[in-house]
Amino acid sequence: MQNRKTAMQRDQNLAKKSGEFLIGGDLRVVRLGFGAMRITGNGVWGEPADRTEAVRVLRRAVELGINFIDTADSYGPGVSEEIIAEALHPYPPGLVIATKGGFDRPGPNRWIENGKPEHLRSACEGSLRRLRLERIDLYQLHRIDPKTPAEDQLGALRDLQAQGKIKHIGLSEVSVRQIQHARTVVPIVSVQNRYSVTDRGSEDVLEYCEKQKMGFIPWFPLAAGRVSGPESPIGHIAVQWKATPSQVALAWLLARSPVILPIPGTSKVEHLEENVAAAALKVDASQTQELDRMARAS
Ligand SMILES: NC(=O)c1ccc[n+]([C@@H]2O[C@H](COP(=O)([O-])OP(=O)(O)OC[C@H]3O[C@@H](n4cnc5c(N)ncnc54)[C@H](OP(=O)(O)O)[C@@H]3O)[C@@H](O)[C@H]2O)c1
Repeated sequence: MQNRKTAMQRDQNLAKKSGEFLIGGDLRVVRLGFGAMRITGNGVWGEPADRTEAVRVLRRAVELGINFIDTADSYGPGVSEEIIAEALHPYPPGLVIATKGGFDRPGPNRWIENGKPEHLRSACEGSLRRLRLERIDLYQLHRIDPKTPAEDQLGALRDLQAQGKIKHIGLSEVSVRQIQHARTVVPIVSVQNRYSVTDRGSEDVLEYCEKQKMGFIPWFPLAAGRVSGPESPIGHIAVQWKATPSQVALAWLLARSPVILPIPGTSKVEHLEENVAAAALKVDASQTQELDRMARAS
């Protein structure tokens, strides 16, 4: 019994080794989070191949100390949010679920931006219902829809915030100019852009977030498990560090900036445990720079 308790306490502390961040100055999250897009079917459509394992992944994530889960109404659609509620409701204190709205899903692998205010309002209501929440802690505009004025999309989120349906607002796949403009309409606390050690297109956005103390949530942090081959720089460093390439990629993100909140996704407990163990990898400044140099050169 005592051994089991000690093992559980050790588990609880694992993700916490990544440190903490205050989203919007008041939502305290463990920096290494979980992305729940991969607990759906192929093409982010329908039921996952193994729903029981998906439920196990979410429960294990919380056991390992993760308290920040990213999802969207469009994952499934609806499936990811429903499985999160099935696995974790009633939610443990301090669990932050971030969801998103702003896409229509006509079929597998098909994503069409829809930023019409009426769509965003009904998307948010759907997320509240599926997640069984009274208020969403972090609601992210999945894309700024070029077909609708940005002010109208952000205005719809500002109204939802005023009604108490969402606490904080984040953006996804945006430029620095778009963030600056959005902030003239409504306070923005986080940005979710594609970014990893080998994918550095959003470096300017990360630097902006760092200056403004906004959370930067890099999606595709493992390039879907293909962040490196055995002969790549990351593969070599992984051998040196006695770690896996995924762990090196995550440890690099955590070391790169204190505002980075990685959300690696998986449908398997085994991969989840491997990824969370990256929180304990210590990467010093010279190793970060070496990896940076090698990744840029490859
Ligand atoms: N804002 C946006 O537009 C946007 C877009 C895409 C994603 N996202 C968010 O970002 C999260 C992460 O992005 P992502 O899922 O595209 O990319 P990712 O986290 O880089 O990769 C996830 C994929 O990698 C595999 N994987 C995970 N851990 C592994 C490991 N240790 N070894 C080998 N393979 C591993 C998973 O397969 P298995 O299931 O087989 O483990 C899964 O297919 C998503 O869950 C979602 O919340 C946001």
